[in-house]
Amino acid sequence: MKAPLIGPSADVPLMSHPSRFTGGAGGGVDAVLLTAADAAAHWPPFLAGDAPALLVAGGALDCLRTLPEASIDLVLTSPPYWRQRRYADPAAIGGEATVREYVAALLPICAEIRRVLKPTGSFWLNLGDAYERKNLCGIPWRVAIALQDAGGWTLRNEVIWHKLKGGPDNARDKLRNVHEHVFHFARSSRSYYDLDAIRNAPRPTSRGAEGVVTATGVSGVRYRRQIQRSTTLTPDERAAALVALDATLAKVAAGELFDFRMVIRGQQRVTHSDSTAVSGRATELARDGFYILPYDNRGSKPGDVWEIVPEGSWRRDAHSAPFPEALCALPILATCPPGGIVLDPFAGTGTAVVAAVRRGRRGIGIDLSAEYLRTAEGRLAELAKRAEKYTTC
Ligand SMILES: C[S@@+](CC[C@H](N)C(=O)[O-])C[C@H]1O[C@@H](n2cnc3c(N)ncnc32)[C@H](O)[C@@H]1O
Repeated sequence: MKAPLIGPSADVPLMSHPSRFTGGAGGGVDAVLLTAADAAAHWPPFLAGDAPALLVAGGALDCLRTLPEASIDLVLTSPPYWRQRRYADPAAIGGEATVREYVAALLPICAEIRRVLKPTGSFWLNLGDAYERKNLCGIPWRVAIALQDAGGWTLRNEVIWHKLKGGPDNARDKLRNVHEHVFHFARSSRSYYDLDAIRNAPRPTSRGAEGVVTATGVSGVRYRRQIQRSTTLTPDERAAALVALDATLAKVAAGELFDFRMVIRGQQRVTHSDSTAVSGRATELARDGFYILPYDNRGSKPGDVWEIVPEGSWRRDAHSAPFPEALCALPILATCPPGGIVLDPFAGTGTAVVAAVRRGRRGIGIDLSAEYLRTAEGRLAELAKRAEKYTTC
């Protein structure tokens, strides 16, 4: 089903050219709706249809209130940071007099986000910090704790976005600020999570003078020496450890295993806990004198520090604070099923929506600024033209 196009309305004069682009999933038409009131009537056909994207000009809170509950798979957003920029619209978030008021302004919006998310849904929130009279405010964590305490959210990860380069900083009594926070909140304990979609590709082994060497430099030579010279292993344990090591190295040589670690009594530390009461590995070590930890052949799990260069430093379209598309990739792949709906209630130039459509999901972008949404629309049209929308990486 196609979402209808809505004509310009007098109270939003900026939107003089509601336009369409075609070529989305199912050849859908993407409409730029003009007001929260207009949106109310058009959510159902969009939600039930297959149009790739919908852009709505309006306030986040008003628009969210009109969305049916439990209709969205993933909310991925970056609200305006406190006192970083002046937006023309008086309804804009970010200009509050105090940090407390800023947090208070975000909470009802987050409550609506919670209402519109499916029980399996996730909410990824990117926030930057601010200084007030030389004092770092700690805004991201103030918001996160408020959402945990009063909002009913379960915080699954605190991601540090390492921006690699910061803005100019002339202060002589502090370090450069080069990171922001991205929080992953789950709506419930039943959240959708596709770990295999985001694993780092396993790094291949190579062949050295000592035989096959894994990407992290394991050839088995050191483990073998440690076993042979061990004074804490019994002769039987030494023999069994060498058999296990050889069997593992044979799997590596055959390409059946990319990497592994070995823990030998008296040599390496137990990976989790030394206590046999809480760790099966500690029990194994006490019983056998060693254990082997094979790496997952599907690749390792990504960590919670992401190195991504900010997009504003190289993108030329009109927005002073876009977040990079690379920041959206993991949240979309891990926490929105293919074909699911990603919502950004502070969409700006539509990075999250573009990232969603590019990865075979559908996107809804809400923003006070029709001008930014026009840029978003242009980006989506460009995407459709280049037929990149089915790329899944
Ligand atoms: C940090 S920017 C988001 C940029 C976006 N991630 C992108 O890629 O372009 C925040 C956006 O929130 C919008 N905004 C501010 N207050 C709003 C409100 N109350 N409702 C909806 N949008 C709002 C601003 O117009 C701005 O585009």
